[in-house]
Amino acid sequence: MFFFENLYISVFGFYFMVKNVLITGGLGFIGFHTSRNFLEMGYNVIVVDNINNYYDIKLKEDKIPLLKKYNNFIFKKIDICNYKKFLKFCSKFKIDLIIHLAAQAGVRYSIDNPFIYEKNNVMGTLNILEIARNLKIKDIIFASSSSVYGGNEKIPFLESHRVDNPVSLYAATKKSCELIAYTYNKLYDINITGLRFFTVYGPWGRPDMAIYKFFKSAYLDQKIDVYNKGDMLRDFTYIDDIVDGIYLASKKMNGYRIYNLGNNKPEKLMDLINYISEITSKKIKKKYLPMQKGDVYKTYANIDLAKKELGYNPKTSLKEGLKKFNDWYINYYKL
Ligand SMILES: NC(=O)c1ccc[n+]([C@@H]2O[C@H](COP(=O)([O-])OP(=O)(O)OC[C@H]3O[C@@H](n4cnc5c(N)ncnc54)[C@H](O)[C@@H]3O)[C@@H](O)[C@H]2O)c1
Repeated sequence: MFFFENLYISVFGFYFMVKNVLITGGLGFIGFHTSRNFLEMGYNVIVVDNINNYYDIKLKEDKIPLLKKYNNFIFKKIDICNYKKFLKFCSKFKIDLIIHLAAQAGVRYSIDNPFIYEKNNVMGTLNILEIARNLKIKDIIFASSSSVYGGNEKIPFLESHRVDNPVSLYAATKKSCELIAYTYNKLYDINITGLRFFTVYGPWGRPDMAIYKFFKSAYLDQKIDVYNKGDMLRDFTYIDDIVDGIYLASKKMNGYRIYNLGNNKPEKLMDLINYISEITSKKIKKKYLPMQKGDVYKTYANIDLAKKELGYNPKTSLKEGLKKFNDWYINYYKL
């Protein structure tokens, strides 16, 4: 079976090795798009996901048949926190690259559920690093987050800024993952790239995130919660641009690296709501609320480093991306 050994393919007489990529959280939002991209590129993709019920599991299970269309795809329902079982599973393959996206996501949920975050994010990431060490896997990409910038006031956020003032437990776990990953790079010479994603959205997006919630409420004619009375800014990044960034990062593995993957264009929350109102042709009813614990006022990515070193170049404007989300939403929910 080619999944156990790398396969060589010939293109115009040149031989290329087909790489085996392990993607954790591959049935999640970013994981699914990333898996599909690597499958399209001809990689052998092994997806693991525990299909947790943080949000509707139908959104995760519905992706399985879409990925099963590719014969270079393997899926295993497994919890990365179960180290022994996970190591045994991974030992069956010769893995070249791990793209570690499994995590307990969500800033607000972390305020009331700290243990879930510590387990899935910190222990989960440590398990990935230990597996890489034991199985001699040389390259790891992992998901960090813009939330590590916490209450930083200096904008745009730069990778070299200090990030030791997280304002949510979610952010603290992501920063912890960066620190632990750094240590593994130094101790075991594993190439590790951490990507700080900035508010990713698009088809198959997460139902707990604002864009999904706003579309849903617009179509159901329900009120949306608008925090900090609408005075907030977010650097929204379309999923295809993030997927490109992950792919580009996989081509430039080099020691320990951290990159911002954002859009470099903060948008006002009220503008976002107006765009959604235009696209859905619905008048959106709003309930204005104070700032929530754990939230930050503004996110704004400086992406010069990712541009320079990876060739990252986000192309999708917010309006364009929202239209694509809307098309998917209407089609998926048969509106
Ligand atoms: N979406 C964003 O805007 C955003 C921003 C910054 C960082 N991130 C990070 O990117 C990654 C992907 O985020 P997403 O938005 O796709 O989230 P998601 O919740 O849709 O995907 C995560 C997937 O991981 C799986 N998972 C969680 N714990 C697991 C475990 N212990 N074992 C196996 N599988 C497990 C879940 O079932 C889910 O399918 C996460 O690490 C997240 O923290 C996302």
